Amino acid sequence: MNEFTDIVVNPSTRAQLTALKNPARRRLLIGSAIAGLFYTTPAISATPRSSTLFSFSSVPIGLASDTVVAPPGYRWSVVAAWGDSITGVGKNISADASDTAAEQELQFGMHHDGCAFFPEKGSSSKGLWVVNHEYTDDGLLHPGGMTPWTAEKVHKSQAAHGVTVAAIARQSDGSWKPVPSPLARRITSRTVCGISGPVAGHSLVKTTLDPSGRSINGILNNCAHGVTPWGTFLTCEENFNGYFVKSGSPTREERRIGLNAKGFGYRWHEHDARFNVDQHPNEMNRFGWVVEIDPRNPNAQPIKHSALGRFKHEGAWVTLAKDQRVVVYMGDDQRSEYVYKFVSRKAFDPKTNPTGAGLLDSGTLYVARFDADGSGRWIALEHGRNGLNQGNGFPDQAYILVNARLAADFVGATPMDRPEWVAVHPKTGEVYVTLTNNSDRGDKVPVNAANPRARNLMGHIVRWTESKRDAASGDFKWEIFALAGDREHSENHLRGQIKGDSFGSPDGLWFDKRGILWTQTDVSTSTLGKGAYANLPNNCMYAADPVSREFRRFLIGPKGCEVTGVDITADYTTMFVNIQHPGETPSERSDPQNPTAISTWPDAEVTRRPRSATIAIWRDDGKPVGT
Ligand code: FEO
Ligand code: CA
Ligand code: CA
Ligand code: CA
Repeated sequence: MNEFTDIVVNPSTRAQLTALKNPARRRLLIGSAIAGLFYTTPAISATPRSSTLFSFSSVPIGLASDTVVAPPGYRWSVVAAWGDSITGVGKNISADASDTAAEQELQFGMHHDGCAFFPEKGSSSKGLWVVNHEYTDDGLLHPGGMTPWTAEKVHKSQAAHGVTVAAIARQSDGSWKPVPSPLARRITSRTVCGISGPVAGHSLVKTTLDPSGRSINGILNNCAHGVTPWGTFLTCEENFNGYFVKSGSPTREERRIGLNAKGFGYRWHEHDARFNVDQHPNEMNRFGWVVEIDPRNPNAQPIKHSALGRFKHEGAWVTLAKDQRVVVYMGDDQRSEYVYKFVSRKAFDPKTNPTGAGLLDSGTLYVARFDADGSGRWIALEHGRNGLNQGNGFPDQAYILVNARLAADFVGATPMDRPEWVAVHPKTGEVYVTLTNNSDRGDKVPVNAANPRARNLMGHIVRWTESKRDAASGDFKWEIFALAGDREHSENHLRGQIKGDSFGSPDGLWFDKRGILWTQTDVSTSTLGKGAYANLPNNCMYAADPVSREFRRFLIGPKGCEVTGVDITADYTTMFVNIQHPGETPSERSDPQNPTAISTWPDAEVTRRPRSATIAIWRDDGKPVGT
């Protein structure tokens, strides 16, 4: 995501039942959590061994520059950057970015985030590349930036959002390129989507433009993602509030999701009245959902799954319970928000329902409570349960789902330090979540056992095991896996309990099937190189070992980027990684003529504008990446 980081909007005091007011007790909990007291296996040795999962050489910090640096013996190339044709044969971005909105609709969008490779018949050399485009930097998107501000620029900004589905193929030199395909398409902030579940057709999502409450134009701020067992892509709407403005006083519900008079400066409302809440009060309720896209069916409408709740969805990571019900883990990425999971009502049966039809339409949404003794509970956000009833201000299930944060406040969920990605260990089922940072912790929100550091600038990773190792369980055991930060600031390093390289603000988190935990960082541009981050390079990607807890630096990104999004071919010989917002400036709305622009990655010869891009990484010797 960009630098419009959030302020705490969580007013809940109920959750603070689990807060730790005693500093000595807090220190004890940090120590015992790290020492594995909350978690029985694996035991943590005082001097962990080097990982046996991976064998590349750590990339030295001193090699950081305005490019991607991978370990010795590795090569990388750009697969597709913002403005590249989605078929590889259409019009690419012009040198001055003067492409029209209609042209942008046939090009990769801006600011790549969550992504997945869908192989063609199991191939490791050809398949569909599906990638989110989270937001736009309109200073870069248009030749003259935002001056003047026109309807065409709003249209182009909307066209640069969303998702790209493109076919990509490996070339003889090992690089990958987009190739023509009838499946190539863009889904943008203007594409017509459906909505499923309890909110579909409800009065909360009916507007003058859509009195049915069942047809929604577009997706917004698509951050991370998920892949279903039936082969579809889930794209998640994160900071959707920032596109809307309201001059009048926001309602309680609007305030809780962060609506204000200015938004994040996208200025769409000036030419598209949908984004003016004064005129279209329900339009904002139609965003903030998990959206399913079938990449192999270009005619399939994207579907917003309301049963999974509405909040600032980072991603939606899917696994199956022991009885094959579908379980989706989800973070709400704002300071002091919550971790959720959805459990479907019906089980997945690939024989009778190979397309997973209806599975995400009904089920139970839960929110997590992390207790100080290392146990945790999933609390159902279901009308009629846990006090969520008319008398307490929750008239029906649609209201609970649209206002999931209010329901989670009411039941006493644990406020976390910005839940970003979730990863499920492919063999043990252990679940990991990155908590990227929270400078308000200990100030506006008390510390608690799962978020033990006041002014947590560096973030941490929490992991848990569901009871009976069943993803549908109602409770779990948790512990802190890693407190991030450089050696001077990480208590793990001080205690000698994490081996390897330091990192800050973990965000992207993903297990490959070998059990390597890939960790990507998003230290904000205004923080990099200063204070607690003084000893850290540009944002990076690390391989981590869940047993030894070794983190090893696999890649350093270009200046001003975050590294976010990763997948790998079935034979592990090509890894795909997204580089988002290279050259980001703390002021965010960049001016490409501005001499302070800090990056021209990846290709100043195409356009001086830095461009978010997917890269492919492979080994000179053709062996599996990582090992
Ligand atoms: Fe889009 Fe929370 O990162
Ligand atoms: Ca982030
Ligand atoms: Ca960022
Ligand atoms: Ca993120």
